[in-house]
Amino acid sequence: MLNIGILGLGEGRSTISAALQSPKLQLKMICDQNIALCRQRADEFKVYDHTTDYNEMLKDDSIDIIAIYTPDHLHAEHVKQALLHNKHVVCTKPFIDDLSAAKELIELQKSTGKKVFVGQSSRFFEPMKKQRQDYDQGLIGELITVEAYYHADHRWFLAKPWSLQQSFKWLYGGLSHPVDFIRWYLPNIEEVMGYGMLSSNGRNGGLKNFDTMHFIFKATDGRIARVSGAYTGPVQPVTRDSEMSCILRGDLGCSQGDYMDLRYAITDKTGEERILTWEHKLKHYFRFEGKSHHAGEYQNYLEYFVDSIEQDFTAYPDLKEGIGTIALLQAMDRSLHTGKPVKVADVMAEHGL
Ligand SMILES: NC(=O)c1ccc[n+]([C@@H]2O[C@H](COP(=O)([O-])OP(=O)(O)OC[C@H]3O[C@@H](n4cnc5c(N)ncnc54)[C@H](O)[C@@H]3O)[C@@H](O)[C@H]2O)c1
Repeated sequence: MLNIGILGLGEGRSTISAALQSPKLQLKMICDQNIALCRQRADEFKVYDHTTDYNEMLKDDSIDIIAIYTPDHLHAEHVKQALLHNKHVVCTKPFIDDLSAAKELIELQKSTGKKVFVGQSSRFFEPMKKQRQDYDQGLIGELITVEAYYHADHRWFLAKPWSLQQSFKWLYGGLSHPVDFIRWYLPNIEEVMGYGMLSSNGRNGGLKNFDTMHFIFKATDGRIARVSGAYTGPVQPVTRDSEMSCILRGDLGCSQGDYMDLRYAITDKTGEERILTWEHKLKHYFRFEGKSHHAGEYQNYLEYFVDSIEQDFTAYPDLKEGIGTIALLQAMDRSLHTGKPVKVADVMAEHGL
């Protein structure tokens, strides 16, 4: 069992629940600079140790893992501080939101020998786990192409002041999920191009950057993939379109993992079609009101990370994979603004990676 401290208690609420329910973790301390929220969470979960000062949590020698759920633009600094205090780190997606700190973080991780894991929650959801397992077992044969998307009505998110700052981009906040699916299956994306726009709803809501985007990708071996995201308008009923999906097309079969309704479908290499659901796990995945949180996936990934520390293996996405995804997101960002295809290697090289 390892001791964990949690920073940022908005979405970090799901992590509190995950840690408290996990037999592999002991929740030592929670931290948020917003004192009212800090007290509210301490009260809600009966957590005695809470602080508004990140340093206090970092200085607690009994804490093995720091889990970071602060706004995107603060992740790099918060990960750095945790490593400097010799902690293992879980950082939510997007791992960072630009590459300027990437090299320093890689060096810091090497010198401290601590593990860094990106909390890329969507990989740890039941339909997506099953899809990966079937793929690894060859049930759809050789992969031809991947299509992934994340479309959601996130107008509620605009109540958070940091969402209206120039630094906030749905490209990182939202598309990091389907882009991670692409990289999970096609790690070597060479080039990307895409178009984006700010919808009228987004503009009226005060968003500064694009909330509607479509991209295509080319891997080094010539395979192609596509991703899309739209975040400020109504969506289809969940039985029709699950908001976040990943479709794999193989030479012998095809599969689709659907997020919101815990659904998975496959046509396998024998031609048999199956649809699976996991209603009995709804309470594991969605513990509070609604489905806008991720407690179950967080418990799944935190336990995997604890195992990786105790048994000394690498938990993926690790620091390197996480930075690779950010490099791809930066290439996507550049393509949006130049209207041209962008090579990921060029973006990496600019940052000495
Ligand atoms: N599926 C997922 O994995 C998933 C889902 C939702 C959000 N997230 C990520 O979680 C992060 C937080 O999102 P959110 O919706 O909870 O935002 P939020 O604004 O509700 O919460 C962030 C919290 O961090 C606190 N904070 C900021 N700086 C701090 C500091 N220096 N010390 C202590 N506390 C500090 C703020 O007071 C705030 O309460 C984002 O990076 C987001 O992308 C991930």
